[in-house]
Amino acid sequence: KLLILDFGSQYTQLIARRIRELNIYSEIVPFNKVPPLDDTIKGVILSGSPFSVADENALHADLSAIIGKKPVLGICYGAQYIANHYGGKVQRSEKREYGKARLKEIYRDHDPLFNGIAPGSQVWMSHGDTIMELPEQFELLADTDSIYVAAFRSEKNAFSAPVYCLQFHPEVTHSLDGAALLRNFAMDIAGCTGSWTPASFVEEKVEELSQLVGDDHVLMALSGGVDSTVAATLLHKAIGNRLHCFFVDNGLLRKNEFQEVLDSYKGMGLNIEGVDARQRFWDALAGESSPETKRKIIGRLFIEIFEEESEAHPEVSWLGQGTIYPDVIESVSVHGPSVTIKSHHNVGGLPEKLKLKIVEPLRMLFKDEVRRVGKEMGVPNHILSRHPFPGPGLGIRILGSITPEKVAMLQEADAIYINNLRKFGLYDEVWQAGTILLPVQSVGVMGDERTYEQTVALRAVNSLDGMTAEWSQLPYDFLATVSSEIINNVKGINRVVYDISTKPPATIEWE
Ligand code: XMP
Repeated sequence: KLLILDFGSQYTQLIARRIRELNIYSEIVPFNKVPPLDDTIKGVILSGSPFSVADENALHADLSAIIGKKPVLGICYGAQYIANHYGGKVQRSEKREYGKARLKEIYRDHDPLFNGIAPGSQVWMSHGDTIMELPEQFELLADTDSIYVAAFRSEKNAFSAPVYCLQFHPEVTHSLDGAALLRNFAMDIAGCTGSWTPASFVEEKVEELSQLVGDDHVLMALSGGVDSTVAATLLHKAIGNRLHCFFVDNGLLRKNEFQEVLDSYKGMGLNIEGVDARQRFWDALAGESSPETKRKIIGRLFIEIFEEESEAHPEVSWLGQGTIYPDVIESVSVHGPSVTIKSHHNVGGLPEKLKLKIVEPLRMLFKDEVRRVGKEMGVPNHILSRHPFPGPGLGIRILGSITPEKVAMLQEADAIYINNLRKFGLYDEVWQAGTILLPVQSVGVMGDERTYEQTVALRAVNSLDGMTAEWSQLPYDFLATVSSEIINNVKGINRVVYDISTKPPATIEWE
């Protein structure tokens, strides 16, 4: 595998993804937490950073633990940091160089990093500092029209392992030969083999899980979402029916979802139990309209049910979770601790209280890798391609207080919306879609009658990870169909609006 030292660049995760696309396993660690470089680590990549090496609070890594030990690739700040450390000259440039550039010359014949790459190749620049002079043990590999050092490497035998540095960002797709450069580094220089595939992951992980869990039993709550389903499938392959799953109907699911998801799980052979807790949730939520309080009530009840399930299975000593890589990467925060905008996680505190050990089979995978692994194991496509759905479900899409009647109303409207997205072939074009029931009544006419009913908002967004999002530009004929179907079929709704807000500053959910 390759190790990626994160100096806080917005592109660090992208480096990891590009490496994994080569079927090479990669792992991100904070710049100041380099683990011992054992035989499994073939090379180390230093990421970019929002900092300048000249900044007082620049991030410092212990290069002596890396350089000469394994092949190293420094990218942007990583390159500047290495140049600066060994006595080169790095300067603030007049203006930040940002955007496309072309490599002018490539200087060394037969350099393995630039193998197959010709002068003129387009690269993506994003830096405020420039390397003016290289340190002694290094030699120039490439330049561009505007900068003298676009790439350099350590001289032969300067260190016991080669050091390569790029001023531009090979991980960004605008660097057209970026993937080839990363491949050359990972395979030809560091010696990775590219044998990390979904099939090999499944095989290794199943073996590892059966070793880890041994003869123990695992309890796991499933949500019908991609992550928990794929995690459970892996565990089931490893320990069979010693994996006990349950799926809770909290009364805030989509229409027919409880039965459909339960049926899918049974079809997949999982040892699953459905828990109908609708009334408990509705009772606990009655009259409550603050979003954060609703979330807390839903989270607390969920924990209660979890505790009951664990009491019903005293043989259980592990808690299975569908945590994925973006949730666990210890991010290098440049702006201090991030503020809680919405409290997302609903099961915090459970394991300590129940004295369970945690097993997280997907802890090291990105979302698309989870899907590929799921596909490899035959998880049905309708689960793998599902939109994300928040834990508190319709509870945060019914603005204000929740009643069973409002849930039923929103379920109908939501089903019409989602079914039409599928019918129009738009479901896979958007990242997430849902309906929101507004606490607003407005006047309408129906036949000869004046109506005074509620409004539903439609939301659809495109996003990579939910952190930022664009509203989806859905076709008017689609919106027209959905609007008239909802108004004609869902009693109590006489108006449909479409949400055209991006995140930020809006959020995806309304609560
Ligand atoms: P926002 O509304 O913060 O949503 O832009 C970003 C993503 O997170 C989901 N979301 C939640 N998921 N519990 C969850 O499990 C929550 O309380 C919660 N709130 C928002 C939201 O659906 C979107 O995918």
